[in-house]
Amino acid sequence: MSDTSRTLTIRRPDDWHVHLRDGAMLQAVVDHTARQFARAIVMPNLKPPITSVDQARSYRERILQALRPERRDRFTPLMTAYLTETIAAQELERGFTEKVFTAAKLYPAGATTNSDAGVRDLKAITPVLETMERIGMPLLIHGEVTDPGIDIFDREAVFIEQHLEPLLRRHPALKVVLEHITTADAADFVTSGPANLAATITPHHLHINRNAMFLGGLRPDFYCLPVAKRERHRLALRAAATSGNPKFFLGTDSAPHPRGAKESACGCAGIYNAPYAIESYAQVFEQEGALERLEGFASVFGPRFYGLPLNKGSITLIRDGSEVPALMELSAGADSTTLLVPFHAGEDLNWRLEDSPAS
Ligand code: DOR
Ligand code: ZN
Repeated sequence: MSDTSRTLTIRRPDDWHVHLRDGAMLQAVVDHTARQFARAIVMPNLKPPITSVDQARSYRERILQALRPERRDRFTPLMTAYLTETIAAQELERGFTEKVFTAAKLYPAGATTNSDAGVRDLKAITPVLETMERIGMPLLIHGEVTDPGIDIFDREAVFIEQHLEPLLRRHPALKVVLEHITTADAADFVTSGPANLAATITPHHLHINRNAMFLGGLRPDFYCLPVAKRERHRLALRAAATSGNPKFFLGTDSAPHPRGAKESACGCAGIYNAPYAIESYAQVFEQEGALERLEGFASVFGPRFYGLPLNKGSITLIRDGSEVPALMELSAGADSTTLLVPFHAGEDLNWRLEDSPAS
């Protein structure tokens, strides 16, 4: 890393958790991720979900085709399998061995967007988890219980106690990433857990607490899952992300939904933070006096955990600011556009990536 107060150059980062969607939305959003990140772990919660090697291969191809041609050999989508109660362990093993699947994603059924086909009873996938443990394939977890009787703000902490802890005891060698953590409970659990347990942290959970959803009215653009929690949890996440502990690394959980689907009577969960993600993280690290630790979090700890090589190139951030638009009208294929509200809409951020979203 080189830091001359006006510029910050770090090894090219990766995004270890992103929703790129498909079709017109994929077309609209993919370059925002590819302009910053060399690789991204692509979530499989499409309709229908990605549950086979063939589906993942063709989705990967669609992602590459949606990129600007000059970015096609600079960006690698890392594909994931969506775990169902009926998925065959052999299919996962084949996908992992053939380097199509990098990891598998566990959605508790009903926890979030397109999770209906997810897992109701974790014991049902024991043979699958045993296989993953044996071959070193990481398990990525949306860690929330779905019981409507459990308060939505407690669902992550309860999941850890009721499901994650026993799962780690049953599968002591399984590599597990607890995705998009939102609580001090999760940060503590991961910190004190074994080396094969890590977590990703989003930019939005570092910037906002639950008040953001209700600031002067109902603000659907700040609604995501797991929902943002109290201020003390946000502070714990900032401490974890900027601590230099390699168990915490970058995963944006950028989750685009068209403006109309968010601002509706039953708005979708998800924050579209891809356009200014690295700038958003840089702001947090600067505020915490930890800019020298951004590179570890963004570019080193993720690949080390996944057992992948570090990226070769670098990116440079310039300290002259980014003006985030209030609304983005993005081209979504032939003659069509989609309206997305980006995270930090209408705000100024301190940093600007040399290659800005407009370019
Ligand atoms: O807010 C979220 N949006 N959380 C998720 O877990 C899924 C995501 C989506 O796909 O929209
Ligand atoms: Zn997600």
